[in-house]
Amino acid sequence: MTQQIATNVHWHHGEVTREDRNRLMGQKGATLWFTGLSGSGKSTVSVALESALYEHGKLAYRLDGDNIRLGINKNLGFSAADRTENIRRIGEIAKLFVDSGTISLSSFISPYREDRDTVRQLHQESGFDFIEVYVDCPLEEAEKRDPKGLYKKARAGEIKNFTGIDDPYEAPENPEIHLRTDQMTLEEEVDTIIDYLKSHGFLAGI
Ligand code: ADX
Repeated sequence: MTQQIATNVHWHHGEVTREDRNRLMGQKGATLWFTGLSGSGKSTVSVALESALYEHGKLAYRLDGDNIRLGINKNLGFSAADRTENIRRIGEIAKLFVDSGTISLSSFISPYREDRDTVRQLHQESGFDFIEVYVDCPLEEAEKRDPKGLYKKARAGEIKNFTGIDDPYEAPENPEIHLRTDQMTLEEEVDTIIDYLKSHGFLAGI
């Protein structure tokens, strides 16, 4: 766990509560954490899910690896320590979105089980829901898709520490949702997640 450096700092509560915000929005804020190999379909599923939720009048917001690495995490690379810090910061950002009543869609390779479990724990300590979605696609298939041409570069030795090639990916052991993106259609994947959210009371009234 990252050490707290500043002392004499305390969380300042407002008058509008988390429950008030959830009521206002007609939904319950939560984090959907998409983890999987590069090219497994994390961003594709979260984009489609965001649109489907919008059609239902529900607010989601995507936090996405590449986008976040162009901004708040532009000072981080792909060493194990930097990936851990990347995930820690995103976990904290996701918590703020959940607190606001938003359904945060966080799509990061997040290759280390321990880092994902830390984010889960940080959520649970604050009473927030953390829903791990394993975007499961065999490496051969992700490599065949290679949407950004990065596997090709990694195989050629032009990118070092590329997840799945010369860097590890630790699959979730007990994800709340498991999608086999090489076997399911995008529509089936989105429906699976919407059904989960409905049946667990995150989308009050639909
Ligand atoms: S994570 O491992 O720290 O969770 P994150 O999801 O933020 O990674 O970023 C992954 C994206 O960065 C990939 O989809 C790919 O576009 C790009 N990338 C560049 N270099 C690497 C690398 N060495 N390993 C994995 N992804 C990389």
